[in-house]
Amino acid sequence: MQEKILVLDFGSQYTQLIARRVRECKVYSEIFPFNASIEKIENFNPKGIILSGGPSSVYDANAPIPSIKIFELGIPALGICYGMQLMAHLFGGKVAKAVKREYGRAELIIDDDSDLLKGIGEKLKTQNSKLKTVVWMSHGDRIEYCPPDFKPIAHTANSPIAAMANKRRRFYALQFHPEVVHTPMGFDIFKNFLFKICRCKPTWTMKSFIETATKEIQEKVGNKKVVCGISGGVDSTVTAVMVHRAIGEQLTCIFVDNGVLRAGEAKKVEETLRRHFYMNINCVDASERFLNKLKGITDPEVKRKTIGNEFIKVFEEEAEKIKGVRFLAQGTLYPDVIESVSFRGPSATIKSHHNVGGLLKKMNLKLIEPLRELFKDEVRLLGKELGIPDEIINRHPFPGPGLAIRVIGEVTGERCNILRKADAIVLEEIKDAALYTNLWQTFAVLLPVKSVGVMGDERTYENVIAVRAVKSLDGMTADWARIPYDVLEKISNRIINEVKGVNRVVYDISSKPPSTIEWE
Ligand code: XMP
Repeated sequence: MQEKILVLDFGSQYTQLIARRVRECKVYSEIFPFNASIEKIENFNPKGIILSGGPSSVYDANAPIPSIKIFELGIPALGICYGMQLMAHLFGGKVAKAVKREYGRAELIIDDDSDLLKGIGEKLKTQNSKLKTVVWMSHGDRIEYCPPDFKPIAHTANSPIAAMANKRRRFYALQFHPEVVHTPMGFDIFKNFLFKICRCKPTWTMKSFIETATKEIQEKVGNKKVVCGISGGVDSTVTAVMVHRAIGEQLTCIFVDNGVLRAGEAKKVEETLRRHFYMNINCVDASERFLNKLKGITDPEVKRKTIGNEFIKVFEEEAEKIKGVRFLAQGTLYPDVIESVSFRGPSATIKSHHNVGGLLKKMNLKLIEPLRELFKDEVRLLGKELGIPDEIINRHPFPGPGLAIRVIGEVTGERCNILRKADAIVLEEIKDAALYTNLWQTFAVLLPVKSVGVMGDERTYENVIAVRAVKSLDGMTADWARIPYDVLEKISNRIINEVKGVNRVVYDISSKPPSTIEWE
């Protein structure tokens, strides 16, 4: 029986990070919205509960309050920031506005280092031999006094009670954020909570995940057939390999060449999956069909819709050819399914299925989503464990509409070819300079302007290529990468010399926000 930790979400931007830290300790965790019913929580059967932070004050009229019964399950609880204030408030302590909002680094003085704070901190050099450590604070309210059966266990200059504990009931609370990297000992605090207080064992690994997922897929699918669309990206490749591991020949993958892929992409994907894993792959060259549909379209959103709709059509035609197919495997990830209804809105749950809903209905297919419990970095670990080559696992994200949104203006076969050649040079040089893995994305964009140049004795009037390279953690924000000039020089020289139809290369030095990563 898998040991599990429940993270109750009160709307903190760090809730997912808490769940990830727990999993990094090799204990499985899931996020439920703060108002999850007690039946659902009991069913989940956690070994401990973590209450996240959140933007509210416990005195707000609409303050999120969980079922009080979560504290009657006889399992440990850890409140973080708002979670701590909530525990103080519910158990009879006093929460008040802090004199000064505390944000950023703070020095935590540990007053009692048993259990939760064991092994945390270094000895203060001066006076009373207490322990101290650096923590990350971000709060308006603070605890004035503890509930009667709680004891303060740490303080900072601004928070007289920065941590508190009720050891008998195994309830703990922290005013600071142990989940962020700015709390250097945060990971050890989680370990203390999980291993010493909840008495979990670190058994959740990718190996154990593969075993469980394999059994689940086998049980669900039986002897039926499964179809899986692959794009060459990490998520769909890992999904396909995971499902293939469970049911082998019963899986057919469909790879659609939509005419707006990068150079050599279709071949690379096919080779990896067919030669490496002996999978059934149906590679469909639908490039003509897509390019015909894209004729005359310049609006980016219309390009996206056109490609999306055409993809569904091609996929459906191909899937219908597979006799007895009953399931569609899809690479939905955990961030897409976390149902923090109250804060993120129901859109969070809609995203993953929006474009295949019709297909499922029409073909009467059921979904299999083996990655729906995993974060992106865990998918990469799983991919590695499944033996997928690094080249695929570490790939930069590539948008579904592909080069169509990087050929600015009308998409034609010829313009796609120009961009494809330029893009291949950018990637080659970035990889050659060992910069690839440190970048979130790097690519070329073909602009809809021509500029004057001179080649030999001739005046030219040709296309402009923009080179984009960004650093980012999740694609939500991004900074333009400081690529060394000599690498940029090589890229520029090679593109102008090797790609017919281009006489100028520019480098994009805009960050997101206010720009976006893609140009369209
Ligand atoms: P932006 O351009 O919005 O991109 O800063 C953020 C991330 O999303 C990717 N992206 C897309 N991915 N379909 C996709 O599958 C799309 O239509 C799409 N548009 C942008 C982009 O490559 C970046 O990683």
